[in-house]
Amino acid sequence: MVKRITNKVTWVGKVDWELVYFHGKEYSTDKGSSYNSYLIRDKKTVLMDTVWGPYDREFVERLKEEIDLKDIDYIVMNHNESDHSGALPLLMAEIPDTPIYCTKKGEAIIRGHYHQDWNFVTVKTGDTLDLGDSKLVFIEAPMLHWPDTMFTYMTGEEILFSNDGFGQHFASESLYNDKVDQGELFHEAMKYYANILNLYSPMVTRKIKEILDMNVPVKMICPSHGVIWRNNPLEIVEMYQKWADAYQENQITLIYDTMWNSTRRMAECIAAGIREADPTVTVKLMNSSKADKNDICTEVFKSKAVLVGSPTVNYGFMYSIGGILEMLKGLKFKNKKAAAFGSYGWTGESPKQIHEHLEAGGFRVIADDLKVMWVPDEESRKLCIQFGRDFVKSLEQ
Ligand code: FEO
Repeated sequence: MVKRITNKVTWVGKVDWELVYFHGKEYSTDKGSSYNSYLIRDKKTVLMDTVWGPYDREFVERLKEEIDLKDIDYIVMNHNESDHSGALPLLMAEIPDTPIYCTKKGEAIIRGHYHQDWNFVTVKTGDTLDLGDSKLVFIEAPMLHWPDTMFTYMTGEEILFSNDGFGQHFASESLYNDKVDQGELFHEAMKYYANILNLYSPMVTRKIKEILDMNVPVKMICPSHGVIWRNNPLEIVEMYQKWADAYQENQITLIYDTMWNSTRRMAECIAAGIREADPTVTVKLMNSSKADKNDICTEVFKSKAVLVGSPTVNYGFMYSIGGILEMLKGLKFKNKKAAAFGSYGWTGESPKQIHEHLEAGGFRVIADDLKVMWVPDEESRKLCIQFGRDFVKSLEQ
């Protein structure tokens, strides 16, 4: 089903309600996703981005119902990861000479993926493509989130096609930001930012400034995943500005794994101490072997501090904690404080190792590591509660 957005622009993408994981299993998509592709009909006709490979046949068939493929004058590829370029081979088999507009890096990536000598036209920031009444203006946006990424602004319709930027893995038949559950939408938008874009926050800040400095009207932002921002589209831009600036809320998150509940009980006692010392702070506990890893990263993104705990097993920490620490290191959250804790039976290396990994991930560890032998007794539980209280005091210093 295609959807007309304006007189000149039609959504021709694919809503994927079944998608459970993205990037292998790196990103959980419990709300599905969409691969947004847009058909622009002015005096010239443009197809903007395609869809993921498994949907190539239905994409091309649906496109044919909408337009004779030979009437497509240009293809614009804003970003060439497989979820957007996957239908190119099937499409290009039908219209092999159609020019593909993309960045220089984009051409290299398409060639690297599909090994075809298609008719590439490489563009840079400020280059334009005249469509008749309207014009496409290209804006390179490297590392948002791949080196090839660009945004395209359409004059006349005043639409910013932002590809992954401002996107969400969020399936919806409603298409627009004002037609969906706002809590779900902003949760998915934040999760997307925290897990995919946060690492590139300095580029996000610079790119938004560059676009705002262009001083062009923006009626809609059309990303490549999720809903179109048509109602107050600059709201998500302002959120990105905040998110890109070492974002944090008044929240502390405890992440732990546990074998026989000793480390869990430590976490709960620490949390009680934190709550007692600061009743205004939001405290969340997440078992890393049970909670969704991307939800954990999103909660860390929102937090001013995290405490990470694991019992010692095989002279190290549990594997789910290892996975989370590796993800946190890669995401490079800024301006966050931390501490490490864990139970043990005989050697007790885990908190020290967690401490080192947190520091390697850019966290400032502000407390000595906390260890409890075997099952916490009353004295140990008091120690954990006091640890929580002291942690809050250290945060204030
Ligand atoms: Fe949605 Fe980076 O691909």
